[in-house]
Amino acid sequence: ASTAGFAQTVVAWQRVYGRHDLPWQGTRDPYRIWLSEIMLQQTQVATVIAYYTRFLERFPDVQALAAATQDEVMPYWAGLGYYARARNLHRCAQIVCEQWQGRFPTNPEDLQQLPGIGRSTAAAIAAFSTGMRTPILDGNVKRVFARYFSFREHPGLRLVEQRMWALAEDIVAQGPADLDMVAYTQGMMDLGASLCSRGKPQCDACPLAQGCQARADGTQHLIPAPKPR
Ligand code: ADE
Repeated sequence: ASTAGFAQTVVAWQRVYGRHDLPWQGTRDPYRIWLSEIMLQQTQVATVIAYYTRFLERFPDVQALAAATQDEVMPYWAGLGYYARARNLHRCAQIVCEQWQGRFPTNPEDLQQLPGIGRSTAAAIAAFSTGMRTPILDGNVKRVFARYFSFREHPGLRLVEQRMWALAEDIVAQGPADLDMVAYTQGMMDLGASLCSRGKPQCDACPLAQGCQARADGTQHLIPAPKPR
């Protein structure tokens, strides 16, 4: 398992087999990308699509969202669950209007200061809105890495997560100078959601199979390890 060539392999795969028609693709508006990433944190793509479209019809920009009351926002979130997300969303919009003059930040360090935005979400917003070379590490990517590099411990462990972030950075750093970060970031999400799914890894079709340590060991069904208890 090597980090060299990894990013470009994912980009080439994404261009042919990845998703290209999701409603938040094809925009560089950080407000729209932020909204999609928050909705997608704990909810499946198929469910998010209709919520995302309805939400943007009512709150087309960060000013519209910030100007609304929490009670006006909630009906547009009802059914998505994890309601702390909706409260953070509203607070975040108000902070962007007050502290950023309504211009959504795109720098990961700035984004991470905002409520509801962790390191991976900040990186996804930055990569999708500006193409910045900053890697993500969400649940899907952790599963791909756990298998490719054969992490035997649960990926939620702090030390495992630290090692994965270092690998995520190496992969991006070793990519070509013109690495397409939008395609790479989307490709990692798409791979984790499709071929490298938890229950049914389809290694025969996987572009990373050649370098994948779990595949070589035949342990793809055992990795990632469950949470220790
Ligand atoms: N999950 C998290 N972010 C996503 C995105 N931008 N596209 C598809 N699935 C995602």
